[in-house]
Amino acid sequence: MTMPGETRIDKPESELIVLGIETSCDETAVSVVRGGTEVLSSIVSSQVDIHARYGGVVPEIASRAHVDLMVPVLAEAIIEAGVSSNELDAIGATYGPGLVGSLLVGLSSAKALSLAWNVPFVGVNHLEAHLLSSFIDDPAVELPLVVLLVSGGHTMLIEMRDRGDYRLLGATVDDAAGEAFDKVARYLGLGYPGGPAIDAISELGDPTAIAFPRAMSGADDGYDFSFSGLKTAVINHVRKNPDVSTEDVAASFQEAVVDVLVTKARRAVHEVGAKGLCIGGGVAANTSLRSRILDVCVEDEIGAFIPGRSMCTDNAAMVAAAATFRFVTDGPSPLDLGAVPNLALPLTVPRSEA
Ligand code: KG4
Ligand code: ZN
Repeated sequence: MTMPGETRIDKPESELIVLGIETSCDETAVSVVRGGTEVLSSIVSSQVDIHARYGGVVPEIASRAHVDLMVPVLAEAIIEAGVSSNELDAIGATYGPGLVGSLLVGLSSAKALSLAWNVPFVGVNHLEAHLLSSFIDDPAVELPLVVLLVSGGHTMLIEMRDRGDYRLLGATVDDAAGEAFDKVARYLGLGYPGGPAIDAISELGDPTAIAFPRAMSGADDGYDFSFSGLKTAVINHVRKNPDVSTEDVAASFQEAVVDVLVTKARRAVHEVGAKGLCIGGGVAANTSLRSRILDVCVEDEIGAFIPGRSMCTDNAAMVAAAATFRFVTDGPSPLDLGAVPNLALPLTVPRSEA
């Protein structure tokens, strides 16, 4: 077996076949990807139904569900890809950020397979996997790119100058965008997960009905985000107006979030001179955000890189793609690599100097 640090890759990146495993939150996912872009299989088993009755992800239940689901999901991914273990060049697994118990299930599975099959192991940063997912749908992505990464745990605006070369332009100072969707949906009694529920009900409402605040969205406000005031504004409005239409509240809330995200991302593209704008993370599955980003890119004549919805939410194809890239640049990871719940995105330029 190739040991960490001694990279002996005798194939071009385009021919590498990599198995990816993702278990950072409540999706158990396994995928096989060739050349970092060609998805041979991508199986995602969501635990949404299991957690819905609790109104959110329960970490201990998530870990146990990952243990139950790992072998069947793995088997399905391998069978669908039609590859055997001796054709695999590497096995990648998310080692952070995420829920520690959940991460450990995927990580231990990947290490066990690495030892049993004599295939190198590669630890993957979940945030980098989201960033690189755009290359799966569109390998001809033009760089530099501004990436808006919006998920349940993160809201970041990143300048991607190359794969592995990231500059953080801004991030949320309180709630992540997906967290705001989930909390508002919960308050409105729309269930869990909140993002898809608000997305669907907003179709029936008037996005201009209520003028909710757009925090930190002025031209001089930089690229950080804040969504906790918006959540409070929604709660206060419903308390004061108990007969208000839930559809209008949802649509107006969504409009406020999308407005801020699109305004900042658009400004960032122009300021850094990026060739395009890309979105990733669960909130990038939002219908209104997708269409507004597309409109802005057409209007400003820049490339729009909007991955398919299944590539935006958590999946293992993006993990396999990131593992392929890191295997080529850094070689295999040590088998004693641990789960890192608060793992940060590796930045080329520290935030303080950006
Ligand atoms: O990336 P992801 O699958 O998991 C994390 O790494 O967090 O993102 C999950 C988040 C949840 O907050 C969910 O409500 C949100 O993405 N989400 C959406 C939509 N689909 C998922 N938010 C708005 N509109 C959607 N269609
Ligand atoms: Zn994610």
